[in-house]
Amino acid sequence: MAEERVAQARIDKRSPIPMYYQIMELLRRKIHDGEFAVGAALPPERELAEIFRVSRMTVRQAITALVNEGVLIRRQGVGTFVAPPKIEQVLSKLTSFTEDMQQRGLHPSAKLLHFEHRAAEGEQAALLGVPEGESLLVIERLRLADDLPMAIERTHLLDRLFPHLHREEVEHDSLYALLEKRYAIRIDRATESLEATVADAAEAALLEIGTGNPVLRRTRVTYDEQQQPFELATSVYRADRYKFVIELSRR
Ligand code: GLP
Repeated sequence: MAEERVAQARIDKRSPIPMYYQIMELLRRKIHDGEFAVGAALPPERELAEIFRVSRMTVRQAITALVNEGVLIRRQGVGTFVAPPKIEQVLSKLTSFTEDMQQRGLHPSAKLLHFEHRAAEGEQAALLGVPEGESLLVIERLRLADDLPMAIERTHLLDRLFPHLHREEVEHDSLYALLEKRYAIRIDRATESLEATVADAAEAALLEIGTGNPVLRRTRVTYDEQQQPFELATSVYRADRYKFVIELSRR
């Protein structure tokens, strides 16, 4: 029984390590060892409090910390479950969302939120190396993996390079694949910045997280082989589903 297995690992009330932290580490180990499988429900807080002989508040503190880390998922009124491992993405390859998900055996999809033409303003124009007022195609999509929301992507493309791009195409196809096939663009490199921020109400609703939950904001400027920037994209990723790995070398 789950309760017996949990009880086997006792916490040490005399230890200087806070009790909630000990419970966190115990639960983490059990998840890592597969004793609590992905998708499995944790025993209710009340039971865990009895098992560990601590207050429900201490148990809740441990669970909340693991929920914030993305190790557990809390479903209101249903319970707390073991989350699937975060998607690890190594930031050294220039890939598309579609490629990233397919590499992991996940099915990528998109929901089109906005598709409009807009004049480039200040920083956008500077990053894309065009004068202010240049026409941009702005495409905003909610990106999903196996039907679960992962990120919101807002892409600004130089309009003159990609005429006759239709809204239906970007909803159903990979944008990069489309640009490469139809417009014969050769995607060469990108510069990216990564920031930790919190989701505002609109982002939270789309990503199905709480307002104020942590998100990772990536901004990418993508260049073609002529070193012409053609895309400025901002993506907001769920921080509980993503982990970015950066490779460093000291050669
Ligand atoms: C990534 C990048 C975006 C890019 C997108 C294209 O997620 N951050 O800058 O626009 O991939 O993805 P896809 O080809 O799947 O539409």
